[in-house]
Amino acid sequence: MNNKVLIDKLNTQKHLSKTEWITLFDTWDEDDRLYAAGIAKDTAQSIYGNKIYIRGIVEFSNICRNDCYYCGIRKSNPNLQRYCLTEDEILSCCDEGYELGFRTFVLQSGEHIFKPEQVAEVVGKIKQNHPDCAVTLSLGEEEYATYKLWRKAGADRYLLRHETANEEHYKKLHPAEMSWAHRMACLKNLKELGYQVGAGIMVGSPYQTSECLADDMMFFEQFRPHMIGIGPFLPHKDTPFKDEPKGSYELTLFLLSLCRILLPNVLLPATTALGTINPRGREEGVLAGANVIMPNLSPTAVRKKYMLYDNKICTGDESAQCRGCLERRMESIGYEIKISRGDYHD
Ligand code: SAM
Ligand code: FES
Repeated sequence: MNNKVLIDKLNTQKHLSKTEWITLFDTWDEDDRLYAAGIAKDTAQSIYGNKIYIRGIVEFSNICRNDCYYCGIRKSNPNLQRYCLTEDEILSCCDEGYELGFRTFVLQSGEHIFKPEQVAEVVGKIKQNHPDCAVTLSLGEEEYATYKLWRKAGADRYLLRHETANEEHYKKLHPAEMSWAHRMACLKNLKELGYQVGAGIMVGSPYQTSECLADDMMFFEQFRPHMIGIGPFLPHKDTPFKDEPKGSYELTLFLLSLCRILLPNVLLPATTALGTINPRGREEGVLAGANVIMPNLSPTAVRKKYMLYDNKICTGDESAQCRGCLERRMESIGYEIKISRGDYHD
């Protein structure tokens, strides 16, 4: 079957078989990618118009208990000055973000930094200071009771990339003490607790095959995340994967489009990694169906220390500079930033 026929089938039936997905990933070309991008862009525009939602990320600590082989802030990286913002610093990043028009704050860090109660307290204070804003957490794997506590404190959304829906692949990206089943259970628990949930992958992570990508697409179809975070894998010099090739820019764009076609309403960021691999990555991500951008609100002094991969962009800029830069970038392709919480809607 011709790949455009497969893409049309995905568009009308919102489903492909595993064999069809594998065929598509084994044989796609630039023409297929642009064809999918056209459908995806129209789909996003029919739901979100030319509006782009923004979320301000506060990367509040680079301390982590995990040792993911791909990640620059893994615990075994000794060449990194570790930091952790205070509660007041986090709150003032959010205050500054609010002035800049952000209505969603994403708190991200390595895993298990603050005590669960401390996180709940910060979430509660952000919601108290800015009741019209959404709070997203991206703090890794926790137990049900902790997710419940944070939800009760007011957290609205949670980002936890599943990284790969293929258990064998997961084992090649993570040390033995990390479990694919636990990560998947976390996603299920988050959904059950009423969070808007984000899953996602790195495109071109080491050992990823077309079958892995097929498994990811089938997982998205079945789990129906509200958000999907997709960016290229980019090597970091102090990790076991330092000599691995980076992921493909074009395949990342293609996957963004396929996700948009599969789940038309999904909140889909054009990620920082996409902007790092190509200077026009975030613009082209939007033109391939993305509708969210997540600029950094962390204090400039710590940005270079949250280096997940080499050459990460925007690490020297002030939050206001990033905000202005994105506004211009979006305007250059006919889109505009919308000041709103930007919730998922069916
Ligand atoms: N600790 C939280 C967690 O594990 O979900 C949030 C922080 S973690 C650094 C956020 C995401 O960064 C990961 O889910 C992973 O997909 C992405 N990431 C880490 N290292 C990367 C790399 N070398 N290239 C691209 N993305 C990377
Ligand atoms: Fe923990 Fe990357 S290994 S955030």
